[in-house]
Amino acid sequence: MYRSDLQLSPDIAGDYDLSVYLIGMPSYFEADKGLSVCVSSWQRNADNALPPRTKASGGYLNSSLAIHDAKQAGFDSAILLNQAGNVGEGAVMNLFMVKDGELITPTTDADILEGITRRTVIELAKEQSIPVVERTINRTELYTADELFFCGTAVEISWCAKVDNVKISSKEGPISRKLHESFINLPTTHPGLFTKVPS
Ligand SMILES: Cc1ncc(COP(=O)(O)O)c(C=O)c1O
Repeated sequence: MYRSDLQLSPDIAGDYDLSVYLIGMPSYFEADKGLSVCVSSWQRNADNALPPRTKASGGYLNSSLAIHDAKQAGFDSAILLNQAGNVGEGAVMNLFMVKDGELITPTTDADILEGITRRTVIELAKEQSIPVVERTINRTELYTADELFFCGTAVEISWCAKVDNVKISSKEGPISRKLHESFINLPTTHPGLFTKVPS
């Protein structure tokens, strides 16, 4: 969705309009391989600079810088800390950590994008009586997590094997697996959520 007059001006003015494109998406990551990510030296853009809760195209520069750096250093992707120095999210994906049976994810005031997949994961966990805690996550908690996974429209649910070369797990953990399976099975278990696109 955009708003623009034919003008060279940074003022957001003019009529609102909507442009839609459809594009086939190959898998973002290798499904069976756990991700190896780093904590980026790039910080998540702050709410009073470029609101992260909006999916604004300009905001993607933040994720791009982190992903580019991470790939250059041999990682699959990156985690961005927010301006307070706490965990925000993965680059273009929200983050969940499992610790002592609890599913923990940063709060919506942690400079994250409030992703629709994040919301779905929380709902699926609640349906399965997995305790969900939204709270601040410190960087070093990542290293001691029992399980870690990312979620988003593009990455779906992708488990994380290593953060900063610190091993988290060698296979998808049981809670991540359970949520991943229920996510994949959503069209069967919750058919009302899906609308058939006319061919
Ligand atoms: C920065 C960022 N965080 C998280 C997400 C995941 O959001 P969603 O589940 O709505 O795709 C995205 C998706 O594009 C994103 O760009």
